[in-house]
Amino acid sequence: MKTVLLTGGTGYIGSHTAVELIDAGYKVVIVDNLSNSTVDSIDGIERITRVRPDFVKANCSNLSEMEDLFRKYDGFKSIIHFAALKAVGESVEKPLEYYSNNLVSLINLLQLMKNGGGGNIVFSSSCTVYGQPDILPVTETSPYKPATSPYGNTKKIAEDILRETINVNDSIRGIALRYFNPIGAHPSAEIGELPLGKPDNLVPFITQTAIGIREKLQIFGSDYDSQDGTALRDYFHVVDLAKAHVLALKRLEETRNKTGFEVFNVGAGKGITVLEIVKTFEKVSGVKLNYEIVGRRAGDIEKVWADTSLANTEMGWKVESTLEEALLSAWNWEKKIRQVKS
Ligand code: UD1
Repeated sequence: MKTVLLTGGTGYIGSHTAVELIDAGYKVVIVDNLSNSTVDSIDGIERITRVRPDFVKANCSNLSEMEDLFRKYDGFKSIIHFAALKAVGESVEKPLEYYSNNLVSLINLLQLMKNGGGGNIVFSSSCTVYGQPDILPVTETSPYKPATSPYGNTKKIAEDILRETINVNDSIRGIALRYFNPIGAHPSAEIGELPLGKPDNLVPFITQTAIGIREKLQIFGSDYDSQDGTALRDYFHVVDLAKAHVLALKRLEETRNKTGFEVFNVGAGKGITVLEIVKTFEKVSGVKLNYEIVGRRAGDIEKVWADTSLANTEMGWKVESTLEEALLSAWNWEKKIRQVKS
């Protein structure tokens, strides 16, 4: 059985990926410092798969803690690196925390991989590296745009670190997946997104408003160039994103990648407005959402969606779930964690 280390594996995308990896026959070891997640997701993973992943509480940016972890497991040949701070606004307030946490953790992992004779790494990147692209849909060859936040900059710099390290270390191979906007939860409602405090992201804010935790959703901006004036993003189901990680890892293991380091867009390939999300949510949940339209949010771009041809042809990946399914799963998860009967 192949072992894979998931850093940040108790978090939103990590926990869904753990399920898909276990289902694909991998042994999963999760390391997480629980700064923005809880061990409850380990129970959820176990209830879905009937397998309990190993869990180690440690901080990836602490080298000695990572050395202990690698020693305990005799190194790792496969790593999926999710662990990172991801709140855009907070990163503007605390740039050093973001640079230090997000970059030192990656450097530690690469150093330990190198010392251990190499291996495969899949990295969580983001469409934020494209900024506001000039041409849509955006392809992997579209240029980097200056980041609008330290968080976004950590993703760009992390890609550089991976590319430059892999260029001179044949034993390390890597894939960065540039996520667009993953939403939803596992259809079992055993795991899902659980933001601590007030959510920054759209869908958790919608579900928390619908359940009554938040009074109303604020829609940021109605003067964008779109069919209804609200901003366009590429929303897709988190389970589809989780599956992309399994395919990326397999590609690395089978050395099917053309160069040591590759990047792939992962999204549905379609621009959806904020109002369309609200309307679709209302339709699938049967709940009328309280919302108001306010001014633009600082740092937001107008529109972005992916060209996913490369992931389709090279990794054999495609989106399987609909927007309706994704939003319904997010709603079922919200109801489950708040113990509301449908
Ligand atoms: C943001 C980050 C992205 C990061 C991702 C994950 C930016 C520019 N991008 O994506 O880099 O990877 O979060 O944390 O910050 N919206 C509302 N009301 C709300 C919340 C959101 O109208 O209460 C709108 C936003 O203005 C945006 C859309 O919904 O148009 C999606 O927002 P969000 O879910 O925060 O994702 P991004 O901003 O696309």
